[in-house]
Amino acid sequence: MTNYNLKPNHRHFIDISSISKQDAREIIEKAKMLKKAVTEQSQSKGFVHEDAPLKNQALAMIFEKPSTRTRVSFEMAMHQLGGKSVVLQNHDMQLGRGETVADTAKVLSGFVDAIMLRANSHEDMLEMAETSTVPIINALTDFSHPCQIMADILTFEEHRGSIAGKKIAWSGDGNNVAVSWIHASVLFECELALACPKEYAPLEQVVGWAKNNGGKVSVTENPEEAALDADCVITDTFISMGDDNPEQRLNDLAPYQVDQNLMSKANNNAIFMHCLPAHRGEEVTADVIDGPQSVIWDEAENRLHIQKAILMWCFGK
Ligand code: CP
Ligand code: NVA
Repeated sequence: MTNYNLKPNHRHFIDISSISKQDAREIIEKAKMLKKAVTEQSQSKGFVHEDAPLKNQALAMIFEKPSTRTRVSFEMAMHQLGGKSVVLQNHDMQLGRGETVADTAKVLSGFVDAIMLRANSHEDMLEMAETSTVPIINALTDFSHPCQIMADILTFEEHRGSIAGKKIAWSGDGNNVAVSWIHASVLFECELALACPKEYAPLEQVVGWAKNNGGKVSVTENPEEAALDADCVITDTFISMGDDNPEQRLNDLAPYQVDQNLMSKANNNAIFMHCLPAHRGEEVTADVIDGPQSVIWDEAENRLHIQKAILMWCFGK
């Protein structure tokens, strides 16, 4: 992603594949450090870090789709770093009435220091990054969900140590979350085995990118093959925001549900992750998501810690 419109040291966070291995690792380590600073001091959630590293910085958060975790974690992250945030729902904005993405980006660049965007279309996200003069953060598009997967890497490492060389298994829809996992598997050097029905396989260009960049990514239609000896099993909703044909999807993806039988193919100490929101009885059974191998609540909380590290990286801090 070109940064030519941005101030020196300022950067967009569009995809894990568009940052360097070193930067990806630095963001994870920064998040670990920030989390330690909070938990060791048993701070209330409304605290502000003593050095207020984002003092005087303002973030606009645009949502074209609903959100619970992303919205609250970014808002609290800005608060804890000493900055301000403004939440903008698409339907309340002129963007929702046809004002162009480019014009919106230019206008908002005059009001705030960074823009977080949850967009229907990845192309719109890229257009905003081309025209904005402040950093843009991808908070989910139809293509990818990089902030989530950075939180997932943090969560895996808290529970199982370095992710390098570990096997991660994905079962279900090869969707936006799966795409960011494919990107992450290259930068963090883990093996990623995806099991998806043919029609729901992740984009070939993304799998091809991973393979060309030394990634260990495989795609199968067999969930048990993917889960075999895995250190972590992951799934996501079978019906993403904006998807059509819900009944068809539930039907096609049903054999990819993560249940105890699938977990038993993975390593004994494998963890289970899910970005949430979850649909118990669809993509995962209740006994798995609410069972001892599940780390979903840490994963959700880690969105806060990773957002802080991503925001600081965008501002060159
Ligand atoms: N995982 C995630 O992005 O959740 P929200 O849709 O609630 O933000
Ligand atoms: N794949 C899901 C992720 C939600 C956080 C969606 O796009 O709806």
